[in-house]
Amino acid sequence: MKVSVIGTGYVGLIQAVGLAEFGFNVVGIDIDETKVKQLNEGKCPLYEEGLEELLKKHINKNLTFTTSYESIKDSDVIFLCVGTPQDRDGNADLRFLFSAVEKIKETISKDDYKVIVIKSTVPVGTNRKVKELLSGYNVDVVSNPEFLREGIAVYDFFNPERIVLGFENLGNKKPIKIMESIYYCFKEKNIPFVITNWETAELIKYASNAFLATKLSFINELAKLSDKVGADIKTVSYAMGLDPRIGNKFLNAGIGYGGSCFPKDVKALIKQLENNNIEPILIKATDKVNEEQIKWFFKKIKNYYGDLNGKVFAVLGLAFKPNTDDLRESRAINLIDMLLEEGAIVKGFDYVKKARENTINMYKLDKTRAFYGYNLYILDDLYETVKDVDGIIITVEYDRFNKEDWERISDLVKEKVIFDGRNVLDVEKIKKSGFKYYGVGR
Ligand code: UDX
Repeated sequence: MKVSVIGTGYVGLIQAVGLAEFGFNVVGIDIDETKVKQLNEGKCPLYEEGLEELLKKHINKNLTFTTSYESIKDSDVIFLCVGTPQDRDGNADLRFLFSAVEKIKETISKDDYKVIVIKSTVPVGTNRKVKELLSGYNVDVVSNPEFLREGIAVYDFFNPERIVLGFENLGNKKPIKIMESIYYCFKEKNIPFVITNWETAELIKYASNAFLATKLSFINELAKLSDKVGADIKTVSYAMGLDPRIGNKFLNAGIGYGGSCFPKDVKALIKQLENNNIEPILIKATDKVNEEQIKWFFKKIKNYYGDLNGKVFAVLGLAFKPNTDDLRESRAINLIDMLLEEGAIVKGFDYVKKARENTINMYKLDKTRAFYGYNLYILDDLYETVKDVDGIIITVEYDRFNKEDWERISDLVKEKVIFDGRNVLDVEKIKKSGFKYYGVGR
């Protein structure tokens, strides 16, 4: 079976490489010529563990990349994996998706049967709209939302918890059979397949992300209370999680969620409720708590020092979560901006080299890595980063921090104080090294 994947961002690239690993002939299509060239040379444009190895294994064998839509003429299945960013009003912007659909229309002949699969996160009703746009064409449209977590996306692709497939008409077995043969490996592993209609499949994606985001905002709000009353939110989460009805996942309080999905999907769900004349009471609160969380944490730092002007901080973590170079909606970047705004000097570090490079590029840092007009330095070494600082701020939940030499760090800093925005450090160990410790709700 021949497969095309349109859009080679996180979702599309992993889909293309993953299906190549399953043995399909895959063509990845992207409008970005530089990216396509890079991919055909086996170079991965984004950092994701294990992805480049798989790309190298299949490139120019059963996997190629191109800017041309011609290849879709030979494809049985076409995956749409283009970005659906947030527009000015908070809605999902479907321009890239609809323009890809237009290109499909211009390329395929009306009689050739194709299965068009929408993997991009799209508001409820979009699959129906795409089918309307393709009326007169011999196509079936399938909704197949993705649930990949950045940083472990390759693992997630090969070990999904469920495969969600939405169809126009469940009586039409042809596209169902084709999709089951695409994911035959998961069938063999007895991974649950949720076969449903378009609208349900589309809503499953938003419901899953918004629920996890709500769990986070819930614990983050309680962390503020915990802080005030002298409770320990980590123990609260642990004890709550022992109840299997609650579960212990996504209950780590911190400085809020970021990334390319949660903030955007929560906002898009709010819009979908509003567009249907339903007041989004709970989801709106989830979003608000998240927006406030980083401000609350910043205030905590500010209250400690009084004046931040001229103070030097080590910000440990730049991306929105561990093991990624993705800075989108990164709370670390929000915090850096707030610190710089108050005249502080920031030394930033992340274990992922590409996250450091992306930060340098984003702030347009010069060779000395200092931002003109501000005081931001991005360093390659954690120990260099903490040297002579007035405080250490943890912004990404790396367990690796606990394996660092805290005695050495304690000798290097100017003032022994830590603000742990992810509650990730071993407090006993940190305190033994002479540090004052401030977490989130503990
Ligand atoms: C998310 C979903 O998990 C995935 O299923 C979906 O398809 C894409 O969106 P991702 O954006 O990669 O994945 O990040 P995720 O691991 O879910 O974390 C999101 C944010 O929540 C991060 O900023 C993380 O730091 C934060 N988080 C997560 C917490 O603050 N506490 C936790 O307990 C877990």
